[in-house]
Amino acid sequence: MIMLINGQSKLNGHIEVSTSKNAVLPILAASLLSDEPKIINNIPLIDDVDIIVQLIRELGIKVSYHNKSLKLIGNAHKVDPPYELVRKIRASFLIMGPLLARHGIVRISFPGGCAIGNRPIDLHLKGLEVLGAQIKQTGGDIIAKGKLNGSHVYLDFPSVGATENLIMAASLAKGVTYIENAALEPEIVDLADFINSMGGKITGAGTNIIKIEGVEKLTGSTYTPIPDRIEAGTFMVAAAASRGEVTITNVIPEHLKAISAKLIESGAEVTEKADQINVRGPNKIKPVYIKTLPYPGFPTDMQAQFMAYLSCAEGSSIITESVFENRFMHVPELCRLGANIKIEGRTAIIKGVNKLDGAIVKATDLRAGAALCIAALMARGETTITESEHIDRGYERIVDKLNTLGVDIRQI
Ligand code: EPZ
Repeated sequence: MIMLINGQSKLNGHIEVSTSKNAVLPILAASLLSDEPKIINNIPLIDDVDIIVQLIRELGIKVSYHNKSLKLIGNAHKVDPPYELVRKIRASFLIMGPLLARHGIVRISFPGGCAIGNRPIDLHLKGLEVLGAQIKQTGGDIIAKGKLNGSHVYLDFPSVGATENLIMAASLAKGVTYIENAALEPEIVDLADFINSMGGKITGAGTNIIKIEGVEKLTGSTYTPIPDRIEAGTFMVAAAASRGEVTITNVIPEHLKAISAKLIESGAEVTEKADQINVRGPNKIKPVYIKTLPYPGFPTDMQAQFMAYLSCAEGSSIITESVFENRFMHVPELCRLGANIKIEGRTAIIKGVNKLDGAIVKATDLRAGAALCIAALMARGETTITESEHIDRGYERIVDKLNTLGVDIRQI
């Protein structure tokens, strides 16, 4: 798929943010913890969710769509999802914890890398071993089996996925588990709230020590996950970059503190109300320093989008990517549009230029694709973004939403 954007269009108006991709994916995995009916509302119609739904169906769970709600019921009668599905999405690993906790065994192919790094799962596996799982690797697969007992797990790094997998595994383990140096992301809190709505006993989610008391059985639930803070942040930056004014609804301003602070520092106006944020772009973009960090620090998932915005700042900005080891694939593509960016290890120096010019560029991953959309809004003339299906993985109806805001954008 390719996206065509005619640049120098101001964004004006308002859009409603969809439900969080990174909350829905672990919650769908957690639905495997019970065979009773689970109904998850406001499901975003994006490819990553489709892939996880295919994978869960493949395990034998009955999954049906009812408008934008998903109903899941029944037991997995397989514990070894097919390689070709697992390879498509890293979030596949989130089914390890639930399958192991419910069925005492899971077999899954070892992760492949992706555009932003080799993305190991050593912290997931080490944590599951501490809970009593025997883990071995054979023929490109990982086999984990055994009864799980509560224990103290210390995470070397506050990994989002490892925290999620261990919360799910511990929720049906025998005894009490403490996860220390846990990730604090809002999606972790949402997962804990979902499991608690099924009868789980999780406290401390959102802090760096999470306590999980294992229970015998979990029930069904009806649940509505949180809005997507990264989609909201992407539209906030797009509004500022286009020097327009946008009201974004269905947001939790608390989740966007780092983005709002950096946008204000760059000269944009950001005003918050209960569940909405208004952003007005600056005439002159001031350069800023950014270092991506685990939540509540500046999110790595917003690094590429902010870099696109800063490519036209009045001066040099510095961005350090401390979470992933290779998340600068968007830099050469931004330079094709006229940006002046140098990479030194994990740091990018962005020397502001006074204009970008449309060109043919390639989306290498989801957030890099979003960054190219933002740069294309700023550029003179038409920009063609190839492999734009990456963007559809995580942004529901992005072409419609940008059209609504006045952008001349088509996808073919
Ligand atoms: C989640 O990925 C998100 N994905 C990512 O969003 C996000 O960038 C990331 O968290 C960080 O916030 C989902 O929630 C589905 P990590 P995850 O485990 O869980 C290293 C997007 O664009 N690490 O916190 O994979 C890892 O290599 C996606 O929506 C280990 O070394 O992130 C990375 O450098 C991209 N060993 C760092 O930790 C492990 O066992 C952060 O990874 C696990 C992770």
